[in-house]
This record gives sequence, structure tokens and C-alpha cells, in this order.
Amino acid sequence: MTWLLTGGAGYIGSHVLEELQAGGTDVVVVDDLSTGLESRVPDGVPAYYVPVQKTEAIEEILREHKVTGVIHFAAKKAVGESVENPMYYYEENVGGLASLLRAMEQAGTRNMVFSSSAAVYGQPDNPEVSEDSPLVPESPYGETKAAGEWMVRASAVSRAQSENPLSYSLLRYFNVAGAKSPTLGDTSVANLIPLVFRALSEGQKPKVFGDDYSTPDGTCIRDYIHVVDLAQAHVVAAQACEAASPGGFGAAYNIGTGTGSSVLEVLDEVRAVTGNDFEHEITPRRPGDPAALVADPTKIKTELGWSAQHDLADMVSSAWEAWQAQH
Ligand SMILES: NC(=O)c1ccc[n+]([C@@H]2O[C@H](COP(=O)([O-])OP(=O)(O)OC[C@H]3O[C@@H](n4cnc5c(N)ncnc54)[C@H](O)[C@@H]3O)[C@@H](O)[C@H]2O)c1
Repeated sequence: MTWLLTGGAGYIGSHVLEELQAGGTDVVVVDDLSTGLESRVPDGVPAYYVPVQKTEAIEEILREHKVTGVIHFAAKKAVGESVENPMYYYEENVGGLASLLRAMEQAGTRNMVFSSSAAVYGQPDNPEVSEDSPLVPESPYGETKAAGEWMVRASAVSRAQSENPLSYSLLRYFNVAGAKSPTLGDTSVANLIPLVFRALSEGQKPKVFGDDYSTPDGTCIRDYIHVVDLAQAHVVAAQACEAASPGGFGAAYNIGTGTGSSVLEVLDEVRAVTGNDFEHEITPRRPGDPAALVADPTKIKTELGWSAQHDLADMVSSAWEAWQAQH
């Protein structure tokens, strides 16, 4: 078994790389290093620093390494930036995936795991979402993830009667946090926990965007998932594709804990971990933020036997160690 990881030099990709290698799977990396770090790719792993938009180069890599499956992480992920520059997000996330699916079709690669996002659900009426909840993305970023899911399914349908049908898993990640080791931390400052760390490092008060939501403490509730748990979900999803008859597997899964934490609860956890009894500042709501969004993770537990093992304290403490190592 050899799996190609697009975006394997990224935060999540590098964690999945370690889990796959630990389980004896050979890995190959494709990454354009636009946000990834070469230092996250272990020595000895074949790595090609090219964009996924280079269809022919990708096809050649798939053939040369006899790749049996692809995990597609490579994408741009900042919601705010996607609102400011939507065509860039469509070019990267949708254009990049179209190129990759074409290369996989041409090389006859039979398995795929796609990095989707809870952003596909938008602002649901019921905060606990199952995979059957409607996809109503509210940002260009979320739209590119919903479109990505449709593209993978469409490719599988078109290949169903071919010599090389496609099996796939669509993984809808909730709020990813934490690190397996200090060198693998998230270097982007887009999510709540790194934003709080940055404010503290700069001597600022962390901002809380709105405290008048219809939640128990008035702040937004999200489902935080440890990146190591998320990495293990990729391993079981990849195995499910490999174990099925060719083209015999296709499913979407929520990857979360099923438990929500409010912004104020996360801040309290940061106070406990850092020993810093900081004050925070309440600022106006950000447009498009749902009051609460929590995964119903029953489907992946029932079908693939995966469930999250780490709690918020593990996420905040490992993220803090990584933040300190980076800065
Ligand atoms: N981090 C989260 O909370 C979160 C939540 C939901 C979904 N996701 C998705 O998970 C995936 C990985 O996210 P991450 O947090 O590891 O981000 P990241 O920015 O650390 O990783 C993305 C990787 O892809 C590479 N890349 C980007 N565009 C590329 C291209 N056109 N060709 C080749 N390589 C390219 C980057 O250099 C980087 O190494 C993304 O698809 C993201 O949308 C992340």
C-alpha cells in the first residue's frame, strides 16, 4: 500500500503522515509549500514540491510510486480570506481538486480520502449536525469544500463501470487543535486557540467575538478535535477504502468529539494550562458565525469503529507547547 498525501507538509497532513508510517503504509508527499514546511516531512519520504494543478506531473508521480490511494489535504483554509478573494479559493480548492481527480483517473488510482470541513453546514437550525444535515455553506471556503465533495462523488460515478473504479471517504473536520509533538504545531493563526496564544504573546487581551448568542454563557460553541484523533480517523478511512471491493466504498463522515465548548470555556482552559490569569475583551459578533456547531460523530463510530480519545485540556496543552517551541 502506498498513499500520496497532497499537502503532506501541512499541519494536518504531517500528522497523518506519521500515523500512516507508524502503521506500515508507504507515503509520498506532494506540496507546493505555500503554507507547508519542508521540515515537517521526514527524511526518506519521497516528496515533490509542485502544485496539484500540474496534472501531468501528478499523474507521473502516481504511476511511478504505484500509488494505491490519495489523501487530499492541499487547499487554502482561511474563511475570511476566502470572502475577500473568492476566486483564489475556487482556483486553489476546486481547480486543484479537478486537476488531481483527472490525474487519478488517468493513472487509475482507486482510493481517495478528501479533507472536507464542518463549514459545509453553514449556520444550521439545530446545532448538532449529522452527515444528513443539509449542506448550506456560508463562505466561499465552505462552498469550495461542498463542491469538492460533489466532485469526488461525480468522479466515482463516472468511473463506476471502468477498469479502475473509485472508492472514497469525505471527512468533515470540526475545529482542529493540538499537536502530537512541539515541532508539528499549527503555524497558521486562524483558529481560536492560536489567536488567543498570539494575543497573549503580544501582551494583548484575547478577543471574544460576541457574548450575546443564544448559548448558556452567550459565546459561540464549537466542537474541538485533537489533530492526533483526526489523523487516526484518516487511517481508518483509508483502510475502509482499501478493504472494500474496487469502487465499493463511498461515504461522508463527521470528525468531531460530539461535545461542544464555548469560547469562554476554551479561555478558561488556556488560563489553566498557561498559568496566566489574563482578561479578555468582548467585541462585536463576526458575520456568519453560527451560535453553536457540534458534530454528531455516531456514523464513523458505528461504521469504522473510530471515536475521539483526547479532550480539550490535551488540545490546549499540546498546542501551547508547540506554540512556545515555535516562538
Ligand atoms: N485546520 C483546520 O481546522 C481544518 C478544518 C477543516 C478542514 N481543514 C482542511 O484540512 C486540510 C489541511 O489543513 P491544514 O490545517 O493542515 O492546513 P495547512 O495550510 O497547514 O496545510 C495545507 C497544505 O497544502 C499545501 N498546499 C496548499 N495549496 C496547494 C496546492 N495548490 N498544491 C500543492 N500543495 C498545496 C500547503 O503548502 C500546506 O502544506 C485543508 O484542506 C483544510 O481546508 C482544516
